Amino acid sequence: MAGERRRRGGEGPRERTRERGTRREREREREQQQQQQRGPGRGRAALVVAAAAALALGLAAAAAEWKRWSAAARLVTPHPAPPALPPGSTGPLASPQRFWGTYRPHVYFGMKTRSPRALVTGLMWLRQSEGGGGLRHTCEQSDGLSRYGWLMHDGENFGVQEIRDGDLSLKTEFVKRPGGEHGGDWSWRVTARTEGAGGPAPLLSLFFYVATDGQGTLRPHLENGTRLAAVTGTTEELGDFTLTFLRPTAGSGEDPKYASYHYLEAASPGLHRLTEVVRSSLSDRFVFAPPGRPRRRFFAVDAFRGLPGEAPRGRLLLHQVTLEPPSTAEVTFESGSAAGRPGRLAGAALSAALGRHAAAFERRFEETFGLGRKGFPPAQRRFAQAALSELLGGLGYFHGRSLVQAPLQERPVPAPEAALFTAVPSRSFFPRGFLWDEGFHQLLLARWDPALSREVVAHWLDLMNAEGWIPREQILGEEARAKVPPEFLLQHSETANPPTLLLALQRLLPAAPPPFLRRLFPRLRAWYDWYNRTQAGPLPLTFRWRGRDPQPERFLNPKTLASGLDDYPRASHPSPEERHLDLRCWMALASRVLAEVAERLGEPAGPYREMERALSDNELLERLHWAPELGAFADYGNHSAAVGLRWQPAAPPAPGRPPSAPRLVREVREAPRPRFVEALGYVSLFPLLLQLLRPDSPRLPAVLAAMRSERQLWTPFGLRSLARDSPLYMRRNTQHDPPYWRGSVWVNINYLALRALSGYAGAEGPQRERAAELYRELRHNLVANLYRQYAESGFLWEHYSDSTGRGQGCHPFAGWSALVVLVMAEDY
Ligand SMILES: *[C@@H]1O[C@H](CO)[C@@H](O)[C@H](O)[C@H]1NC(C)=O
Ligand SMILES: *[C@@H]1O[C@H](CO)[C@@H](O)[C@H](O)[C@H]1NC(C)=O
Ligand SMILES: *[C@@H]1O[C@H](CO)[C@@H](O)[C@H](O)[C@H]1NC(C)=O
Repeated sequence: MAGERRRRGGEGPRERTRERGTRREREREREQQQQQQRGPGRGRAALVVAAAAALALGLAAAAAEWKRWSAAARLVTPHPAPPALPPGSTGPLASPQRFWGTYRPHVYFGMKTRSPRALVTGLMWLRQSEGGGGLRHTCEQSDGLSRYGWLMHDGENFGVQEIRDGDLSLKTEFVKRPGGEHGGDWSWRVTARTEGAGGPAPLLSLFFYVATDGQGTLRPHLENGTRLAAVTGTTEELGDFTLTFLRPTAGSGEDPKYASYHYLEAASPGLHRLTEVVRSSLSDRFVFAPPGRPRRRFFAVDAFRGLPGEAPRGRLLLHQVTLEPPSTAEVTFESGSAAGRPGRLAGAALSAALGRHAAAFERRFEETFGLGRKGFPPAQRRFAQAALSELLGGLGYFHGRSLVQAPLQERPVPAPEAALFTAVPSRSFFPRGFLWDEGFHQLLLARWDPALSREVVAHWLDLMNAEGWIPREQILGEEARAKVPPEFLLQHSETANPPTLLLALQRLLPAAPPPFLRRLFPRLRAWYDWYNRTQAGPLPLTFRWRGRDPQPERFLNPKTLASGLDDYPRASHPSPEERHLDLRCWMALASRVLAEVAERLGEPAGPYREMERALSDNELLERLHWAPELGAFADYGNHSAAVGLRWQPAAPPAPGRPPSAPRLVREVREAPRPRFVEALGYVSLFPLLLQLLRPDSPRLPAVLAAMRSERQLWTPFGLRSLARDSPLYMRRNTQHDPPYWRGSVWVNINYLALRALSGYAGAEGPQRERAAELYRELRHNLVANLYRQYAESGFLWEHYSDSTGRGQGCHPFAGWSALVVLVMAEDY
């Protein structure tokens, strides 16, 4: 089983990104299809001879061209409603407390400001025993760190992170101090220790850097010609500032530590290439020579000779300190406009500030979630604190353009520049915004800091284009792009994603200030309309996810990335006849939330209430989605259950064509026909998950029974995504695509299940007791397993094995797995 975990963990970013991202094959197929569609059309037109017909065709072509052109224009036109975020509201004057932050979730430790061309600071380190290739900077699974993540982080002023890299343990801490008009001061402390038996103390280098990107100036201040003691500078939003690199001390004390110093000043070709700049500047010609001790060669930054390619975009100044742990190094940032400073925030003052913030964090955590009151032991409370903190520490600020494409467009186009303040699913693998994940993130963050959550929701809604569409994956700016292979950048304008932000909004609603809701409302309406219009199904009050994989013969079951449940089995043959149950339930939720917001604002809520009533009508729901042969709710479509993957032998080489490799193709052993889809799993649960099913529904017992059945969805670790007795349970989708939503336990859906069960347990009805019992057992299983896996592996994971409970997919994955905090708190 350990082998299993390694295999998945070891998959390259390509493989993994593909599972959530757009697929390269899909792009190619789409192109081919479009060419086919375009080709014959032109051919026929050439054959038309009658002038009138030609004219008519010409007009039609012109109309089609116009349509294409205007669709293309609307694709990249921002929505005309006033922005949900008032202009300037995120800058240093309006929001000083959130100007600086650890908004670079993809680096192990770094900070930046919420500005389009921000000043960034960061840490790299090198265990000299690893050689120059062991430089650590961006969070990479391939670094093989046994643990890293924020243990405490309040989302604003303070954080403590622990990192384990082999025998090295690093603690990275920061504290901010308000003052002035530019976001105030902050200080860092990095504490290094090594565990291990005897031998010479290993050498460690810490690299602290500051870099500009397109604007601002930096000036080095050297001590004795080699030690970069300070950097002064100016940027548009920060004004003047001073960054000071203090001399390291031994352990936690104040005693100075013997250290070697180096520094680098370089033109930076862009923030996404900083690791390369530093790595290419390393040389091992340096000697560490503490008095009276053996001399050792080591790597340090030397001359930077430039990188091929891009022209310089900014400057990098880097301070390298090399020493033998244990040791503590501190950095202070002081804003020029902060007057009347009580003293430098370093040494004892920094210790005191860190202590005060830690105590305040503990208090606020207990007040918010009450895990102590509920009797959780300290170790489990620390686990919950770490889960919340890693999500808060994963908040990023991104700025840039999406690459978008409409179905009839030949080429993708860049969307307008946009800013996004968002949490990310995973600092290593998905360090960018994902629409469907974000609603789940905000369910938790809305409890911790509702104002912060409101700001995140507003940022997302401001990404909407004139059509009312929000691209589901946000890859903004070069640092975000550097984590995504170019062929996966594209966002397709017909592709939706579950509107989970509305779940978060529903939670924020009771305490939301009316002006906030008023700014949001036009955008919410446009968003709702977009779903209602573009994702409509074949019958009234049915819905269908667009953008399924075409060419079904290439997949065991063509994926439905839009749904968020990627490879969850749907109709085997995608067609316009499909009706998707989960989307229908999301629309019911959306109607309810829109109605609630409208009512709060005194706006007409009637159409949304009507829609909600129609979509919650249990009889209609049953007619459209109850599959008697399955004894469960299901999708409907053109479907064959008798499909399998078969090796197609290599085609013999034909003249002028290279031999093709053998490949797996789908074999359909029984013709598809319109019917309910034979899959029992998360999708079947949606009427319960979003609480559309009435507590007295005659179907509720069957749904609960499927949840509790070990042959179906029940495991000792939570509910699995697809029933064990379902035809596609744990089946690969292609040669390269391991099962994803075909059996694993996912925390977001388990959270929704617990929330629903606690609702049914609290409502009058014949299933009340049963629901309460399932709730207790499921909650225990989920919390116990996530805690056990965290204690053993050091991380929260993307999903969990339904057979062993082990963490799977990528890590760290606080993201929606951090919802375990709300489950522990029983806060739904
Ligand atoms: C650096 O220079 C200062 C005086 O400018 C001196 O006091 C100090 O000892 C020197 N430090 C080192 C490490 O050489
Ligand atoms: C959703 O679309 C349907 C079909 O076009 C329409 O009848 C209904 O009024 C729409 N609902 C809302 C709330 O706009
Ligand atoms: C179902 O799919 C098959 C294979 O693509 C197709 O031949 C058939 O017409 C489809 N049936 C319906 C009702 O769409």
